[in-house]
Amino acid sequence: MKPYVFITRRMPDEIIEKLEETCTVSMWEKQEEPVPQERLEEEIKQADGLFCTVTEPIDRPLIESAENLKVIATMAVGYNNIDVEAAAEKDITIAHTPGVLSETTADLTFALLMAAARRLPEGIETIKNNEWKTWSPFFLTGQDIHHATLGIIGMGRIGEAVAKRGTGFDMEIIYHNRTRKQEAEEKLGARYVEMDELLKTSDFICVMTPYTKDTHHLIDREAFKKMKNTAIFINSSRGGIVDEEALYEALKNGEIRGAGLDVFEGEPVGADHPLLSLPQVTALPHIGSASESTRMAMADMTANHILQVLSGKEADHEVKL
Ligand code: DGY
Repeated sequence: MKPYVFITRRMPDEIIEKLEETCTVSMWEKQEEPVPQERLEEEIKQADGLFCTVTEPIDRPLIESAENLKVIATMAVGYNNIDVEAAAEKDITIAHTPGVLSETTADLTFALLMAAARRLPEGIETIKNNEWKTWSPFFLTGQDIHHATLGIIGMGRIGEAVAKRGTGFDMEIIYHNRTRKQEAEEKLGARYVEMDELLKTSDFICVMTPYTKDTHHLIDREAFKKMKNTAIFINSSRGGIVDEEALYEALKNGEIRGAGLDVFEGEPVGADHPLLSLPQVTALPHIGSASESTRMAMADMTANHILQVLSGKEADHEVKL
């Protein structure tokens, strides 16, 4: 009997066909709507392989209810939605998609940085609302990006790719990471600093660290208080790394100047989210890796991980505890 694979979101035909060569595939057919919990609960019980995305919490009860599951392959680099310990206890492989999305996510992160610095959303609104009356000397003046200090928290693959873009703007690159990244220092001229120094001296602060118990609300009230009043804070990692109430207050009280956010603590957010009421917030709906070719590459890699594990091999990008 062929192994049974459940996919939690509509995938392109070529991905399904690839899996169907050796597996029986069932899929939640909608692309714009997450799989209902009951369907996921029902499918995971019998599945040998689960192809999931960032929107499904794959928690302990769900994992424990799985009778045949051998692999959970997520179409994402971040896997904070999966209980890795529960999976390890049952010898279930977790695989994710590092590397393939780094450059694309760095593009988006830099786009957010530029949009927030030069107040693009406010400019666009002004024109669309027919409010552009005249050229004016200090109208919508923003922050210079060139020659500014870029502080990167979390110098992994995406952090490095963001830093590389910063060098093209003659930025001074500083970073904080659990371990020093000698290669990044040599290649990009990045300078390792303690967290406090990064917070106090950066003009732009980009959080690029994975979301774990240790990084929950890493950027809190205290952190915002340390930042320059002119600082712009960028997050394209995970919303939970930031205390959103503290961010709101910091922006409202002028403790920092702006923010560019691709992620939120509870996604999706509605138009009534307090941060969206602030003109100095540039917000996007979690599209960091959303280029056509990168999303296809992520889907393909995820399918490969399932096929690898179900044919008795090791997944190329296994999450190790
Ligand atoms: C990831 O890969 O973790 C992104 O957030 C989803 O594209």
